[in-house]
Amino acid sequence: MDSRDISQFSCKAEAFEASEDIGRNPSEGPTLGDIIAKRFGRRDMLRGSLAVAAITATFGPLALATAEKAKAAAGNGSKASFSFDEVSRGVDRTHHVAKGYKADILIRWGDPVLPGAPAFDPMKQTAAAQKMQFGYNNDYVGYIGLPYGSNNPDHGLLCINHEYTDEEVMFPGVGVEQQEAKFTAMTKELAEIEMAAHGGTVIEVRKTDGKWAVVADSKYNRRITASDTVMRITGPAAGHDRMKTKADPTGTSVIGMINNCAGGITPWGTYVSAEENFNGNFGGELADSHPEAENYKRLGVPGNWYNWAAYHDRFDVSKEPNEANRFGWMVEIDPLDPTSVPKKRTALGRFKHEGAESVVNKDGRVVFYMGDDERFDYVYKFVTEGKFNPNDRAANMDLLDKGTLYVAKYGEDGKGEWLPLVHGQGKLTAENGFNSQADVVIQARKAGDVLGATKMDRPEDVEPNKVTGKVYVMLTNNTRRKADQVNSANPRAENAFGHIVEMTPTDGDHASTTFAWDILVKCGDPSVAAVGATFNPATSPDGWFGMPDNCAVDNQGRLWVATDGNSYKGTKTTDGVWAMETEGDLRGTSKLFFRVPVGAEMCGPVFTPDDKTLFLAVQHPATDNTKDWPEFGKASSFEDPATRWPDFKDGMPPRPSVVVVTKEDGGVIGV
Ligand code: FEO
Ligand code: CA
Ligand code: CA
Ligand code: CA
Repeated sequence: MDSRDISQFSCKAEAFEASEDIGRNPSEGPTLGDIIAKRFGRRDMLRGSLAVAAITATFGPLALATAEKAKAAAGNGSKASFSFDEVSRGVDRTHHVAKGYKADILIRWGDPVLPGAPAFDPMKQTAAAQKMQFGYNNDYVGYIGLPYGSNNPDHGLLCINHEYTDEEVMFPGVGVEQQEAKFTAMTKELAEIEMAAHGGTVIEVRKTDGKWAVVADSKYNRRITASDTVMRITGPAAGHDRMKTKADPTGTSVIGMINNCAGGITPWGTYVSAEENFNGNFGGELADSHPEAENYKRLGVPGNWYNWAAYHDRFDVSKEPNEANRFGWMVEIDPLDPTSVPKKRTALGRFKHEGAESVVNKDGRVVFYMGDDERFDYVYKFVTEGKFNPNDRAANMDLLDKGTLYVAKYGEDGKGEWLPLVHGQGKLTAENGFNSQADVVIQARKAGDVLGATKMDRPEDVEPNKVTGKVYVMLTNNTRRKADQVNSANPRAENAFGHIVEMTPTDGDHASTTFAWDILVKCGDPSVAAVGATFNPATSPDGWFGMPDNCAVDNQGRLWVATDGNSYKGTKTTDGVWAMETEGDLRGTSKLFFRVPVGAEMCGPVFTPDDKTLFLAVQHPATDNTKDWPEFGKASSFEDPATRWPDFKDGMPPRPSVVVVTKEDGGVIGV
């Protein structure tokens, strides 16, 4: 299917989109046959584990073997690297963490960030207050030890994205989700609060006597919003005609960032924040004959999910047709200088950016891995031209303006190529509509289309494992892939549960244009044969999951996966964090470590440098799929939410919050 037709969805809508297909079998025999053939044709044959894996895939109920039986099947002498007692899967109003661990609320929507911020009052919220308070829907969380360069595990900065807003549980009296209600209850003031609740937050945090707290009135504390924060546009698209607007005839300055999902901390201690579903914030209509029509259609602009266009012409594409070209970028923020101007780094391309995790390559260049979260879209990387200088922070500050953007092509043979998105190379020429590198980065998706990149099942976080050198790609789901559209990197039709791809750069060189790849796990219930999940049989009935989204890698190189889209109806559990074995005989075994309250999504995960603290972000509690949960059975509203987590006070709405997890004995997490 041409992905141009299917770009209209959001994180707001994605849980619904996923759940409507959960439980339905993928198309019959041939697809499953293909899946098994592809899965076991190569690596598993070599490993001799075909029998075990095939039994799991084909005779699912057998996969519900006890852990002991399964361990025996998985191989003698294999030792789990994760020793915690698993949390049970389930759905209820609060969060759960493994026994022996503490999960404390660090900061909630509306808590003060800047000096003078008023206490949160949900009945009297204003945009002015929101600009000084913690924003909504915390997604990415990054940690930088203080002072910079110290790797201090007990005192640092948290850099947090606020992806989007859920007006129906934020504001009294608006009733249901306003997109469905044509924004009848929305006012300018509410829209201004939404804009102020988007963006990012930097806070100083410190652990004292084993307890983490935000440092009130820290000089580092900062709010970045969609309404106020002026940003500079840098790199190949800066100043291009397509970036110019009435308010900015230079094409180099833009107000705010929107729909910032995941991100990354650079080796030089800046915070890179990924603008994802920015299309939804634009309204109006663009004529099919407009020069940007093809560009915007490919990205689903305008999405009309918010009514900001009613109050701000720049969000109305009929009035300011270039403004949407100024969103969908990677934003680099220097959290050490709260007066610094954030920069939209156009060299990294424009699409629905998910994460920006990086690694210093062996030659000193820095490689950023990135997903484009849309069905049938691509995996990218950016290789800096310059080298990281560990002794001179200032020398690194514009590394993201020069380098090469690549898009991934996964071969059927377990090998892959990175195709350069460079103007003038290959088909990226004027003949195909690319007159400059600015055109290439503004329409990076089209460049990937022209080069024949592999259409993936919604690439989310892409994370290099600094211990093993491998790279993990979270592919969250794609229920619209048809049987005749499968490829070996996306082997399931109607992929409701997603999968994780593991990439191995050639010769351990992250700048290499080639790689090998394999599938770490195909997600979903291993006891339902038609699902075709491939968790290691050592995985317990609590340990499997669907819809991988964010991930983190600890100092031992172990993978932790956070999910978005698990629900009562689909997987009989809320979202959470699962610890996943990636090496040895237990490869593909996962265990549930933490789960969120009903309706929420699990974001964050980031460890402090000593792995003794895990920061998690609980996003949109009470909003997703609450109709399907029998204990509630309806959509949430401000007045009647499925949960009032984390305060559980009458009249207090659910509040997205950052949670800090530590071990009761103060030890390393997961050991
Ligand atoms: Fe905002 Fe792709 O999750
Ligand atoms: Ca995400
Ligand atoms: Ca990550
Ligand atoms: Ca998500």
